[in-house]
Amino acid sequence: MERSKIRILAVVGARPNFMKIAPLLRELRGRDHFETTLVHTGQHYDAAMSADFFRDLGIPEPDVNLEVGSGSHASQTAQVLVGIEKLLVESPPDALLLVGDVNSTIAASLAAAKLLVPVAHVEAGLRSGDRTMPEELNRLVTDCLSTWCFTTEPAGDENLRREGVAESKIHRVGNVMIDTLRANEERARELDTVERLDLEPGGYALLTLHRPSNVDDPEKLAALFGVLEEIHRELPVVFPVHPRTRGAIEALLGGNAPELRMLPPQGYLDFLRLMSEARVVLTDSGGIQEETTALGVPCLTLRDNTERPITVDEGSNTLVGSDAEALRAAARRVLDGDAKRGRVPELWDGRAAARIADVLERDLSRGADPGREAAGERG
Ligand code: UD1
Repeated sequence: MERSKIRILAVVGARPNFMKIAPLLRELRGRDHFETTLVHTGQHYDAAMSADFFRDLGIPEPDVNLEVGSGSHASQTAQVLVGIEKLLVESPPDALLLVGDVNSTIAASLAAAKLLVPVAHVEAGLRSGDRTMPEELNRLVTDCLSTWCFTTEPAGDENLRREGVAESKIHRVGNVMIDTLRANEERARELDTVERLDLEPGGYALLTLHRPSNVDDPEKLAALFGVLEEIHRELPVVFPVHPRTRGAIEALLGGNAPELRMLPPQGYLDFLRLMSEARVVLTDSGGIQEETTALGVPCLTLRDNTERPITVDEGSNTLVGSDAEALRAAARRVLDGDAKRGRVPELWDGRAAARIADVLERDLSRGADPGREAAGERG
């Protein structure tokens, strides 16, 4: 008798989800035992924040788009919760697959856990220790509702243990975002992104800035831009601007854009090329701290904490905070040639998605009901 397929419902919503789901879908769709459905919540909807990534990364069209769009945290989360619940009731999968820590992630995990659909969380266990960050709350809730916590670094395992997550749920598998980076490095190298912008390899800094803690406070944002403009006079600062930040420049700084090399949000491959050839990357993103570590490109993180400590301990990342003076000093060190290259962490080898698929195949093939088991443990 033919074995029935393992049905996986994968949910994505915002830009940083797309490069994480791509290798997982490819891996699962390449295995006969799995049947996958992809849901896009629509949290990000501009082509530059969404469709361009699907195209660059060869992600199949979503089977469903919930089109929730922008809104307050409560309304965005609530709309995803209702939309995912409906899908799960209509056609219950064997497991829900989630990546990262955006509002779509927490909402989907809650909808599934209430219906006893087991949740697989990829990039579990990361903790900044800072509950003013919306992502930190999203991570905490998603992990405690998950049946499989797939982690990228040892700190993730330790955080989960400390929170009482059973050892059997913690699987250190490596980093799916680095699977995507390795799979696309070659293609990115063939692009003329750097030349088209009239830049020299190693002759510019690359900046991204979008955390509410940096861009939603006009004084802080203006002070940061002041120092970044100083750096720009010595080393061109290339700045693809996130829509949130574009909005903050309009609403909080009266449209006074900083004198930097501002660009629209870049596609995955163009951004990878820009990152690979930068002298230094300045960012408040989570994922870029990891990508620069994988590339050995020095990264200055404009935050007071990181949920990805391995990028500092082993990788090329330095935590600078969002204080303008600290940024000035750290940039000075890089400009004077004191750059950190680091090494690539264990298991960041391009094979994380395969390890995840192995675990899911093993656990879901043996007829167990992980959702009910998980509810029992939580109970
Ligand atoms: C979200 C994630 C954040 C992630 C980031 C990457 C949460 C809580 N935050 O933040 O973890 O690092 O995505 O991009 O989930 N907007 C557009 N077009 C879009 C999407 C958004 O113009 O396609 C604008 C809207 O004005 C919106 C604002 O950006 O209100 C913020 O979008 P939102 O999805 O709420 O959060 P991000 O700041 O993008």
